[in-house]
Amino acid sequence: MANTVIIGAQWGDEGKGKIADMLSEGSSLIVRFQGGNNAGHTIRVQGRETILHLIPSGILHSHTLCLVGNGVVLDPAVFLEEADKLAARGIDVSPARLGISKKAHLILPYHKQLDKAREAKRAGRKIGTTGRGIGPCYEDKAARVGIRAGDLDNPVLLREKIGHALLEKNALLSGLYHFEPLDPEKTAAELLALAPRLVPYLVDVEARIDEAAARGGDILFEGAQGTHLDVDHGTYPFVTSSNTISGNAAAGGGVPPSFFTRILGIAKAYTTRVGSGPFPTELLDDTGAYLREKGHEYGATTGRPRRCGWLDAVVLREAVRLNGFTDIAMTKLDVLQNLPALRICVAYEYRGQRCERIPQEEGALAHARPIYEEMPGFEDDISACGGFEQLPAAVRAYVRRVEELVGAGISIISVGPDRRQTIMR
Ligand code: IMP
Repeated sequence: MANTVIIGAQWGDEGKGKIADMLSEGSSLIVRFQGGNNAGHTIRVQGRETILHLIPSGILHSHTLCLVGNGVVLDPAVFLEEADKLAARGIDVSPARLGISKKAHLILPYHKQLDKAREAKRAGRKIGTTGRGIGPCYEDKAARVGIRAGDLDNPVLLREKIGHALLEKNALLSGLYHFEPLDPEKTAAELLALAPRLVPYLVDVEARIDEAAARGGDILFEGAQGTHLDVDHGTYPFVTSSNTISGNAAAGGGVPPSFFTRILGIAKAYTTRVGSGPFPTELLDDTGAYLREKGHEYGATTGRPRRCGWLDAVVLREAVRLNGFTDIAMTKLDVLQNLPALRICVAYEYRGQRCERIPQEEGALAHARPIYEEMPGFEDDISACGGFEQLPAAVRAYVRRVEELVGAGISIISVGPDRRQTIMR
């Protein structure tokens, strides 16, 4: 039995969807444990693209059970829309295959309004959130006034909680942000209208995990976003509102930390970031534009162009440490083709000194200058390579150097979006 956690090692968009989809083939159960529909996982199977925001990527394999864990914040309408789209393609999304933890918190319209209102007010210091209400929903969870999926089955409690929440939210929305206040009865009625479709999906996730484990099946815990968007360890305040690191797979999935046997980090062969925040290796030149176009670096959720730059080994080293990666999957290596030279940031220059770790003071990373090591580029098309030894020498050298610099082995290499374009080492 292997219980694997998949974690983004950079700022999200590392290609977790493809790897999660691949590993799902051998898994009986897939659990999402944090984030919400701020995530966008793109999976390409035989030329057909699927973008998933909430439902675990494993849903494309007919034998898996896919669960949305307690650590996720779930937008009910988005969940149903996504399920409907999959169903229209003939994919079974019945409650036999898909479940939602009763403890997962729900994103309500006022969370989305507050997310947008706050961003609009943060002139000059915008976080660049996805506007999906993620932060305000997690705030309510911590403030102990959140609406949980299990409440959908209890209309009296649900109405009472929404009424209570709106006393405060409406004061903020109309008083401070000049938005229309929301009507508690209408808000509750709209949510309760979805309840008959959602309630059958409510499950005791922990019990399902125990059952799957007892049968000896492999279980996959699918993370969203990336290590450096973690609310504690990321580039605060330019982060998401949940813990994205492997430690949260336990809390957000409902299992003990000792449950995991493999912690797989997913790292792009270069670096990208969406939204605001420091990014030492960002390239604002033709090379950055080349990576964006060749790598199709546009957000799967918001369509925003992603900021692109060289691989940052300092960022990856910290991700290896924080998550305890047993191994790494390096994605999009093919995108580096035709660059005359490849650069890797091996350390920073910060306050006149060489610095091997991420400086921790708020805003400090914005003043860290990358120190690069340069390696030869490659011209061959590697997108059809089936084995590590078939890769050009320059590519193998690049992979090996990254392993040395970050302190973890690269066990999987992705050279294209399709399931088949993957090298297992
Ligand atoms: P939020 O999660 O919508 O609150 O956004 C906070 C920050 O995290 C913004 O910079 C977003 O662009 C970023 N972010 C959130 N989800 C993802 C993701 O799945 N991939 C990449 N960036 C993300």
